[in-house]
Amino acid sequence: MRFPGLAPFTLLLVSLRDLPDEVPAAYDCLRRSYYGTYGAKRAFIADRACLESSFSLLQLGTAVRLDEEEDNLVWVGRRPVDPSLIGTAACDSGLDSLLGFLQQPQWPQDNRVGDRALQMTLQMLWNESVQLEVLHRGPDGALLSASDAVVRSLDARLPPYWRSAAFPAEPIPLIPVPPRAKARLREALAAIRFNHVVASIVNGISVRKLVKDVRYLSGEDPASDLATRHSFSEDAPRAAAWLKSQFEATGASLTGSTDTTETVVLGAHYDDRGSFGEVRAPGANDDGSGTGALLAIARAIARRNVVFRANVLLCAFAGEEQGMVGSRAYARELREQGANIMLMVQADMLAYRVLGEPPQLGLSDPRLLGTAELTQILANISAIYSPELTIGYLPYPGGSDHESFHEQGFPAAQVYERAGFPKDPMYHNTGDVSERDGYDFDQIRSIAKVELATILHVAGFDLEETGNEPDLDGLE
Ligand SMILES: *[C@@H]1O[C@H](CO)[C@@H](O)[C@H](O)[C@H]1NC(C)=O
Ligand SMILES: *[C@@H]1O[C@H](CO)[C@@H](O)[C@H](O)[C@H]1NC(C)=O
Ligand SMILES: [Zn+2]
Repeated sequence: MRFPGLAPFTLLLVSLRDLPDEVPAAYDCLRRSYYGTYGAKRAFIADRACLESSFSLLQLGTAVRLDEEEDNLVWVGRRPVDPSLIGTAACDSGLDSLLGFLQQPQWPQDNRVGDRALQMTLQMLWNESVQLEVLHRGPDGALLSASDAVVRSLDARLPPYWRSAAFPAEPIPLIPVPPRAKARLREALAAIRFNHVVASIVNGISVRKLVKDVRYLSGEDPASDLATRHSFSEDAPRAAAWLKSQFEATGASLTGSTDTTETVVLGAHYDDRGSFGEVRAPGANDDGSGTGALLAIARAIARRNVVFRANVLLCAFAGEEQGMVGSRAYARELREQGANIMLMVQADMLAYRVLGEPPQLGLSDPRLLGTAELTQILANISAIYSPELTIGYLPYPGGSDHESFHEQGFPAAQVYERAGFPKDPMYHNTGDVSERDGYDFDQIRSIAKVELATILHVAGFDLEETGNEPDLDGLE
C-alpha cells in the first residue's frame, strides 16, 4: 500500500463503542479516511492535517505510525469467545505464540488430509517469503504488514477462533444508513401482525431437505464430492455450481411483481476454512447452516408459489473467511448501481446449541454494528412465528457479511445461533459436521422461519394461482 505525500500517515484505531454508527459531520476528513472495521475497532488512515482537525476523536483511539510505503496491512485478531473455550485448542495460543507460529518457515507437516492442490498452493505461497512485520499489538489482535503471499495463505494457518482480514487498497466511503431507510423499516414494523398465510408458508420449511443440503455441502453425504469449501480450493467453485443449480431448480420467483426498485437481501457465506494449516473444512455449521437455510427458504417460496411485491436477493458469498471479500465487492457494486436495499440479513452459524440451553436467536447489537430498526423487526417476527427461540444480542460485533452492507449505508443485521459469545468447539475445524452433539437442525429451521417471515412482511407478497396442484413431493 502506498501513502504518498510528505506528511506521515497514521492509522487510527477507534473502538466501536466510542464511535458506533456514524462519524459526526465535523470530522469530515475522517469519513474519507475509513478502511473498515476490524474486531471491535474502526480503522482510519489519516494524514497530519486530518489528525489535527480530529483531535478529540484521536484521543479516543490508538494511533499507529505507518511508513510512506507499507506492504499489505492485515489485521489478525481473536474473536471474543465463551469463557469455557479460553485455554482450549479451539481458542488459544496467545498472541506471542501465534506470531511465532506464523513466522516459522515450515508449513505444518502433520497435514495430510484434504485438498492436495490447495495444500500445495498454500505451501508454495508460504515458502515464497514469510514476510511479516508487526506494526501494532493490542490485547486481542495485531496489525501486520505482510507480503501478498502471506496475505493469501494467512487465514489457513491461524488457530480456529483467530481471524485475519486485509485492508482494502482504497478507503471506503463511510456512508451512514439514511434516515429515510430507517423510517421505511419503522413503517414496516408498525404493520407487523400475525398473518396465518405467512405462518403456513414459513411452516413449509422442511428439515428433511435441509439435512440433505447441509450434508451435501459438508461432504457428509456420500454423493458429495466436496472435501473443503476454502475459497482457494478446487472444491469451492464446485460448491458454487451446485448451489446455483439447486437455487435454480427450486423455481422460486424472486423478482418483484410491482414496479419498484425496493429490494430485500438474505445472505450467508458458503466458504469455510480450516486451522493450523489444515485444508479440509466441512463447515456444516460455518456456514453450511446459513447457506442451507437460504436454500430451504428458496424451496419454501417455490412450494407455495409466493410472488413477492418487492425484489428479493438470496446471496451465498465466498471469501468471507478472508475478510468478507465477496460481500464487500458485491455491496460496493450495489451502491454504485444506486440499488434500493431495504434490508440485508446475514445468517452465519445457526446450528450449534449448547447442551441444556434453549434454542436461541442471537441478533447483532446495533449499539456496535447494524441497524436497530431491522433488529427490532427480526425480534418481533421471531416472537410471532418462532416463539420457541430465546432472543438476545451478540455481545460483540458479529463479523460477517452484513458488515459489508452496513459499510455501504444499507440497513443490515446478523442472525446467529446464540445470544452470547460463540461456543461451538468445532469452529474452523474438521469436526464441523452435522452429525454431532449440539448440532440442531430444528434451531436452523426456527431461525430460517424468522428470515422468511421478515421478507414476506417487509417485501409484501401474493400467492400465484397456478390452477395446478403444486408438486409437493418434488419440493419437499
Ligand atoms: C516448502 O518448503 C519446504 C522446506 O522448507 C519443502 O519441504 C516443501 O516441499 C516446500 N513446498 C513447496 C510447495 O514448495
Ligand atoms: C415489538 O415487540 C415489542 C416487545 O414485545 C412490543 O412492545 C412492541 O409493541 C412490538 N412492536 C410492534 C410495532 O408491534
Ligand atoms: Zn462464518
